[in-house]
Amino acid sequence: MFVRIKLLQSYLFHHMPLNYRSMHLLRDNAYINGNWISASSKQTFPVCNPVDNTVIACVPDMNIADTQVAIDTAAKAFESFSKTTAKERSDLLRNWYNLMVKHSEDLACILTKENGKSLTESRAEIKYGNSFLEWFAEEARRIDGEILQSPVPNRELFLLRQPVGVAALITPWNFPHAMITRKAGAALAAGCTCVVKPSEDTPLTALALADLAEQAGFPAGVLNVLTTSVTNSVAVGKELCENPKVRVLSFTGSTAVGKSLYKQCASTMKRLGLELGGNAPYIVFKTADVDLAVNSAMASKFRNTGQTCVSANRFFVEDNIFDEFVEKFVERIKVDIKLGDGSKEGVTHGPLIKKSQLDMVNDLVKDAIQKGAKVHCGGSPLPDLGPLFYAPTLLTEITKDMQIYNKEIFGPVAVINKFCSEEDVLRQANDTPVGLAGYFFSQDISQIFRVARKLEVGMVGVNEGLISCAEAAFGGVKESGLGREGSKYGVEDFLDIKYVCIGNLKR
Ligand code: SIN
Repeated sequence: MFVRIKLLQSYLFHHMPLNYRSMHLLRDNAYINGNWISASSKQTFPVCNPVDNTVIACVPDMNIADTQVAIDTAAKAFESFSKTTAKERSDLLRNWYNLMVKHSEDLACILTKENGKSLTESRAEIKYGNSFLEWFAEEARRIDGEILQSPVPNRELFLLRQPVGVAALITPWNFPHAMITRKAGAALAAGCTCVVKPSEDTPLTALALADLAEQAGFPAGVLNVLTTSVTNSVAVGKELCENPKVRVLSFTGSTAVGKSLYKQCASTMKRLGLELGGNAPYIVFKTADVDLAVNSAMASKFRNTGQTCVSANRFFVEDNIFDEFVEKFVERIKVDIKLGDGSKEGVTHGPLIKKSQLDMVNDLVKDAIQKGAKVHCGGSPLPDLGPLFYAPTLLTEITKDMQIYNKEIFGPVAVINKFCSEEDVLRQANDTPVGLAGYFFSQDISQIFRVARKLEVGMVGVNEGLISCAEAAFGGVKESGLGREGSKYGVEDFLDIKYVCIGNLKR
């Protein structure tokens, strides 16, 4: 009997249409001021499953006027939310976290449907995303001020840390759950209210999170989710940047878009948190454990089908272990990766998110092949699987004139270069305007300290290909952005320091 129930559950999980299985979390309205509403224009846009381009749901296409309403709502809610105690905010975040844990499986199912990543990967993202709420529920109670030593006898000086105001959070499609919780967890812990604008490709996860935030007891207007199509997205983003009631903007996405938002935020002198593109070097020194380096490369390169800003983007392997590394890496790719509909059992990786992404990856690979790159596996789209599948690819014999040499690939393509000295590889690794993550493999302790210090990136993985966690400070240097997310520093973007001087005290 028990076995039969289990089989039935498993069948329902894999075969039920999403809008039946996760009906209570699948929302097709935006969430503003505690209400589930349509766009003022009544326009909607479709959200598609990248596996086969079928429509999952249609959601409101909010415009500038809707955005202004959301901002006004958040500004009004800030008046009371900013006065809550840290303990009250911690309790709300803890409630939200508990609900997220309880509904993890439904959230993973929605995530897989709209993003295409496999259920295994979605479950991992939900767990990772939830951990930010747990973390910031704890951090909320440690946002302390300071008492300073006064240089004058009859004065007391202190510093308050206060929420900056309304936070606009613009989040990407590659981690639709975790990028919201990493930003909103910090903003809410600090006492800010939020207007979230999720990517037009993945708004359903954001709406499911809003549903759970409502159940968790967040007051109306504290967390708002604004859905917009690609057509309205630029204008809505501009309004979030230029509206004076928004006091901080936090964005995760490409460096090009980040630069444009940075400019737009100048007119109102907003606080900015920018998590932008990377071009991560992945260096394997001759002292490395090659099997470990190959194992970690699989996770680092192919997480979310390569659509990750901290993915290994440029492999550099020292000359005398080059052939061994390439051979073992190709073998693992062929054996380990099972492409398909991510909601199906056994599938490890899904399609790319959209056609522009597929075309970009395909053009880079075609250009490299045409200029002499050697293809060890893959090298082309896989239309028989679906419109957006791309074969896991490994290329060698890369030259500087190839576009793929120094561009963020954001797809399942490993590009392996050969190097012959530490000095030479560090020069190549740092020869890029961005610096988000970097990885290297070595068993030489002096080399580990040397190279970790010299890599021009915000995050370094040593003998490790997956380094993200709530405890760590996530962020880049150079054109990879501003500020840090997660960790005890994640709340800083959302806090102002106010200096208070009490004078003429009687001693
Ligand atoms: C990203 O790719 O935008 C985030 C990845 C992470 O948090 O590890």
